[in-house]
Amino acid sequence: MRLNRVVAACLLSLTTLAAQAAEGPITAIRAARLIDGLGSSPIRDAVVIIDGERIVAAGSRLAIPAGATVIDLGDATLLPGFIDCHTHITGEPGDYYKSFVRDSHIDDAVRAHIYAARTLQAGFTTIRNLGAGEFVDIALRRAIDEGVVSGPRIVAAGHGIGATGGHADDGVGASPYIALQGFSGVADGVEAVRLKVREQVKYGADVIKMVATAGVLSEEDSVGAPQYTQAEMDALVDEAHRWDRKVAAHAHGAEGIKMAIRAGVDSIEHGSFIDDEGIAMMKARGTYLVADIYNDDYILAEFGKLNYPQKIIDKERLVGRVQRENFRKAVRAGVKIAYGTDAGVYPHGGNGRQFAKHVEWGQTPMQAIVAATSSAATLLGRDKDIGAVAAGRFADLVAVSGDPLADITLLERPGFVMKGGVTVRRDAQPLASR
Ligand code: ARG
Repeated sequence: MRLNRVVAACLLSLTTLAAQAAEGPITAIRAARLIDGLGSSPIRDAVVIIDGERIVAAGSRLAIPAGATVIDLGDATLLPGFIDCHTHITGEPGDYYKSFVRDSHIDDAVRAHIYAARTLQAGFTTIRNLGAGEFVDIALRRAIDEGVVSGPRIVAAGHGIGATGGHADDGVGASPYIALQGFSGVADGVEAVRLKVREQVKYGADVIKMVATAGVLSEEDSVGAPQYTQAEMDALVDEAHRWDRKVAAHAHGAEGIKMAIRAGVDSIEHGSFIDDEGIAMMKARGTYLVADIYNDDYILAEFGKLNYPQKIIDKERLVGRVQRENFRKAVRAGVKIAYGTDAGVYPHGGNGRQFAKHVEWGQTPMQAIVAATSSAATLLGRDKDIGAVAAGRFADLVAVSGDPLADITLLERPGFVMKGGVTVRRDAQPLASR
């Protein structure tokens, strides 16, 4: 009886799939385990059926349609492609003064495709890029979408918008006679802030980045003081939402975090000094926390060698540990968490290193995976397309050998990556045989 039902189900899916076969090439992927990204228990003996660029079915022991190309990943765990909600894909750490004086956004534009390729190879099939000079992130997104360059899907912000003398102002710390040229994200006052949002949208931004407070890697004195008035934040968010763009707010300090939440931002980035009231507000409003809780290790180990001013290193020391402790508080309180690393502050391709920090600081391995898949996709407003191994979504997939619920660091080393049904990485070992 039971067996008959299984056979019938297989026949049914075969017929459905046969009907779809006309649409595009069918691929079937087999793996020992599947974690769907939605938080369900892992599926054993998983089969994912892909038609062209999308998933048509995923489950245990599904029948494989005749003529399908079969990819057998053996004792591997399949997951949705990872999503990093906070990157700076156009840059990487380098000598502080060289970056400032000799390099320009033209150099960034020349190199960015290398970082994009590395990010994709690390299993991150989508990134949200929160700030780049001269619309380079938008140009890169186009080149990737047109298939000219290999890289993740990019949800791009263009320039981060912030106040004169603040974290988004590249001239802080320089002589007043060094005049920076080109586009900039600096805007002061409600009308200018609205105009700056419109300018980002005009040139292709998918999301708006607001610099609500001071930062670490910039030379203003404070690390977390608000840098916009409530009126400026309100206007920025109102304008962005009118254009149907979500807002990600860079915010370290407790007061600036609350001002940004009140203004209605969709996510708080960093969130370092968030207090209990801020946590309660995020929970009540469903604001996401995107906390870059890995990069403190990298900054403290490396930035001294890169001639960063002592002031900046000192600011990092104020933030690193507290940010992690507050991340844990937010997790315990049930704040929505999405995965974002600030890659670019440390080398691209290392995006997966933050998974272990999510687990060390309060999330279960499954929650950490959800943060980088379905939760991130919902924050990006892309949950119909990405963030889960489910029928209808893009075939953006990652596989790691073994079980990441037992060892979360496996997610740092994917052996297989597919984006939109196209295999972009398949290591011979350790994924070749069962
Ligand atoms: N872009 C951020 C800033 O400069 C990086 C903060 C890095 N440190 C940290 N502990 N998350 O403010």
